[in-house]
Amino acid sequence: MKIEIKNVSKEFKGIEILHDLNATFESGKIYGLIGRNGSGKSVFLKMLCGFYKPSSGEILFDGVNYIKENTFPKDTRALIEKPDFISDLSGYENLELLAKIQNRIGKEEILNTLKKVHLEKDMDKKFARYSLGMKQKLAIAQVLMEDPKVMILDEPFNGIEDETSQELRELLIEEKKTWENHCFSNPYQG
Ligand SMILES: Nc1ncnc2c1ncn2[C@@H]1O[C@H](COP(=O)(O)OP(=O)(O)OP(=O)(O)O)[C@@H](O)[C@H]1O
Ligand SMILES: [Mg+2]
Repeated sequence: MKIEIKNVSKEFKGIEILHDLNATFESGKIYGLIGRNGSGKSVFLKMLCGFYKPSSGEILFDGVNYIKENTFPKDTRALIEKPDFISDLSGYENLELLAKIQNRIGKEEILNTLKKVHLEKDMDKKFARYSLGMKQKLAIAQVLMEDPKVMILDEPFNGIEDETSQELRELLIEEKKTWENHCFSNPYQG
């Protein structure tokens, strides 16, 4: 898997946020974005996911311009900003519902992933009752559960206590080793 960023610029209403970005991201590596508040890190990650279109230039996943085709990049999972799920469903039920879209994994994989992020004790609580850190852990579980080839993470450890966040960092590094993933994160704030 290779992601190519070619001459990408982004403006909102005539104000340029990102200017002529060029980069190549390769399999099996973790990349971090560093920049001041408001420098455009989240905007860039949203363009990778196809939430925003570049004003010029192109983003290619193995040569395919998903944004142009109005589809989400294949085998890619993202955690961008505040995690949101269905309030009335439990953590487990939310993941179960999402897993049904692809129908690739079942109960066992979902439970294993919930264990990895230390949510097994709280998996039957309604999402509405989750603390910020629990919501963030559920969002990480959602990103991990289907073995994605690419993980796009914007401040994934926000709200998670130090000890667990260190463990989750190690977990993501381990997953990268086994699955040869890409992973973009925002190391500035978690
Ligand atoms: N939808 C939008 N419309 C207009 N301007 C936007 C939009 N989204 C972001 N911006 C602007 O783009 C700039 C970059 O924002 P972005 O959220 O990417 O910053 P960031 O680098 O992620 O900052 P932080 O470190 O605070 O998370 C900011 O000036 C922001 O106001
Ligand atoms: Mg940001």
